[in-house]
Amino acid sequence: MSDSNPQEKIHGVVGYYTDVDSVMEASRRVRDAGYKRWDSYTPFPVHGIDDAMGIKPTILPWIVLCMGLTGLGAGLLLQWYTNAYDYVFLISGKPDWSLPANIPVTFEMVIAFSAFTTFFGMLALNKLPHLSNPLHKLERFKRVTNDRFAICVEAADANFDATRVRSILSGANAEAVEDCPVDTSRAALPLWLHGVAAIATCLTFIPLATAFKGRFATSEKPRLHVWPDMDWQRKRKTQTEWEMFPDGRAMRLPVEGTVAQGELRDDFEFYYGVAQDSSVPAGVTYDSGTMGMKDGQAQYSWLANYPSKAPATAELLERGQQRYGIYCAVCHGDVGNGMGSVALRANEINALATGWVQPKSLYSDNAKAYSNGELYHIVTHGISTMKGYGAQVKPADRWAIVAYVRALQKTQGLKPNDDRLDGIELKPAPTIKDVRVSEAPSDAR
Ligand code: HEC
Repeated sequence: MSDSNPQEKIHGVVGYYTDVDSVMEASRRVRDAGYKRWDSYTPFPVHGIDDAMGIKPTILPWIVLCMGLTGLGAGLLLQWYTNAYDYVFLISGKPDWSLPANIPVTFEMVIAFSAFTTFFGMLALNKLPHLSNPLHKLERFKRVTNDRFAICVEAADANFDATRVRSILSGANAEAVEDCPVDTSRAALPLWLHGVAAIATCLTFIPLATAFKGRFATSEKPRLHVWPDMDWQRKRKTQTEWEMFPDGRAMRLPVEGTVAQGELRDDFEFYYGVAQDSSVPAGVTYDSGTMGMKDGQAQYSWLANYPSKAPATAELLERGQQRYGIYCAVCHGDVGNGMGSVALRANEINALATGWVQPKSLYSDNAKAYSNGELYHIVTHGISTMKGYGAQVKPADRWAIVAYVRALQKTQGLKPNDDRLDGIELKPAPTIKDVRVSEAPSDAR
């Protein structure tokens, strides 16, 4: 840098112009004089000024192309490495690595790399962000954003010669030419900005710290609910408290004597397997909640036969055979001897030692002695460690199962305590293929 005035260092020499033609002419002259560190400032884009200034097209596209290709390579490499090299995983017999499957990720990588390179490359090539420029100190320069054009040749240029530059600039019909002094004001950021930056930095740690604390601390308070929408409503959920009612519960018992649609179970024989005969003391009603028990005493006698809604017919028996195959045979065996596949397997792995309870043979004196109503009750509610099937199997099907169990007992030469099945012939037990598992009833109770 050749400085004509060592006393007062200058940033550069500025020429001002009132019209486009003059600034174009001045630009051409500065360009032809071979200066490199200079720029023209105009209030609007001037067509052709790039040529006049000798500005070469930006190399940004090439940089973007390179980075885009890098993204392409990285995307393909990543997928090849993870799928075909590091963790080979055969999916439906497809190739470990195939181009079509990799296109989406590769495409995204190309876009991401290119977009970020474009954005940050543009900033870097323009040397941005640039917080201050000595030109801004010049009063006259301010009109550059309004109705003046300016050219500044910087003293940093290798060929800089203030006198020569001044004459070049003024030669092209300049309105004025002036030196731009070097900005000697403190370059450091003002102290208060340091403070603001420090506080802002500290504040950014708050979310992090909160998240960190949340990982280890417990709290009685509910979480911050930023967007409540319809999450809180003045309604009561099931099994919750509500001080409005004396018993403090939100859920109400049905009003006494009311019956929900389809819930009328006045046929106790059919629904509960209990007899409604004269053995029942007058005024006593079967309570399904206590299963007809009161103080450990059955209030009802079990039904010995079949309810009128499920009479012992060949259809019932056939249905029972099928349902038994679905629900009971796995444990009690196809023939009811307690040797179902589950039982066999349990024996195989010696499960008895772990507290496994063997399914009972349905031919035992015990099983034989149950009345039909009791059997129905066992199918519905289970017995001891056996769970009930009331939830899966409809009442009519439970009676069908009862009938089939009776039939099984009969085939073993035992005398079932029901002789209404006499004379009914059974087809061979269905195989698994005959049984449509999807037939499980939906409204079982
Ligand atoms: C998951 C296996 C399993 C299934 C399925 C199963 N049971 Fe049982 N069942 C048992 C076991 C185990 C016992 C013995 C319970 C005990 O004594 O703790 C038992 C007991 C019984 C008894 C009482 C036997 C007695 O001597 O007191 C009857 C009756 C019975 N089951 C019928 C059925 C019927 C009918 C089905 C089909 C709806 C069925 N079970 C389904 C495992 C099963």
